[in-house]
Amino acid sequence: MITEYITMTENEIDRDGIRRAGEILRNGGLVAFPTETVYGLGGDALNPESSMKIYAAKGRPSDNPLIVHICRMEDLHRIVREVPEAARKLARVFWPGPMTMIFNKSELVPKETTGGLDTVAVRFPSNKIAHALIEAEGGFVAAPSANRSGRPSPTMALYCREDLDGRVDMIIDGGSVGIGLESSIIDLTDEKPTILRPGYITKEMFERALEEEVDVDHTIIDPTSHLVPKAPGMKYRHYAPKGDLTIVEGPQEKVVDYINEQLELARAAGEKTGVIGTEETAPLYHADSVKNVGRRGDEEEVARDLFRVLREFDDEGCTKLYSESFESEGLGMAIMNRLKKAAGQQIVHLD
Ligand code: TXA
Ligand code: MG
Repeated sequence: MITEYITMTENEIDRDGIRRAGEILRNGGLVAFPTETVYGLGGDALNPESSMKIYAAKGRPSDNPLIVHICRMEDLHRIVREVPEAARKLARVFWPGPMTMIFNKSELVPKETTGGLDTVAVRFPSNKIAHALIEAEGGFVAAPSANRSGRPSPTMALYCREDLDGRVDMIIDGGSVGIGLESSIIDLTDEKPTILRPGYITKEMFERALEEEVDVDHTIIDPTSHLVPKAPGMKYRHYAPKGDLTIVEGPQEKVVDYINEQLELARAAGEKTGVIGTEETAPLYHADSVKNVGRRGDEEEVARDLFRVLREFDDEGCTKLYSESFESEGLGMAIMNRLKKAAGQQIVHLD
């Protein structure tokens, strides 16, 4: 398959390009497109064959359900059985935006799209290119992140190309995404709202909007837990760079010293080394490749840079990687969740 590439910005939407992309989707094809979180790999959510094609293109297990993207509130009612009051509240505050809600699904949604589940994940993205594409498709676009299974989610079209060239019909380049981590997922099908995947919308923001307490899926707080995560995709290692990554936690000076010691050993053993540091610490490291993900306090910047940095290490052929640790409150919960997955839970604590 030859992949077609088109380029546009949110301010200058290529209407003709979007019309063709919508046609591809309606005919059962696949289109990668930007959203405000990460790039998505879109297919017709109501067509079981499109969903099968998405799994095949990503090399993703088909028991890992897809998120259905909508562009009009009234469309929600067609794909879910009921809209709980809590969902209405959250939609008013956070849609369009980086939030996915889990509902009981209607008959209209095929099981292929939901990985065999009776529930469906729904998101109403705010990116204008995504919005135009969903509208052109007719309203229901299934879209996982547009990476090959196991790789970091793409934050630029370049990375969609790396992973999916020749495997999808079209890639829409809409520049770098704004957020850089996937949407927050909240389950409203149980008695108590539960966060299944932390993201830009934090626990605190959900609680403020709902005026009630919100749970966090146990497997996010304790990744070594033997319980099965409620979001099937969260059980996979994911976001893995090719190099071996270790997170080092503790007082800043000790972390820097420890990492530098380890780097020396690794280099002596012939490894190509990389470090994820911050504005404050990056100049202090002696690695082959040092990444500065911004000021320590600026979590939005860290979130935006994280997946790109992991991919750059791969491109540079780094084999031994170290990262500083970040706060695990607020947006930090999402950052640390992705970083720990990338590290396969290898963490060193210093005190
Ligand atoms: O920001 C995002 O959410 C991006 C953009 C493209 O919208 N999409 C995304 O999709 O991250 P994906 O497929 O990479 O991750 C979807 C996650 C998986 O962990 C999956 O298991 C979970 O959502 N999920 C989907 N449907 C579910 C359901 N019915 N119940 C529980 N978890 C579900
Ligand atoms: Mg994904």
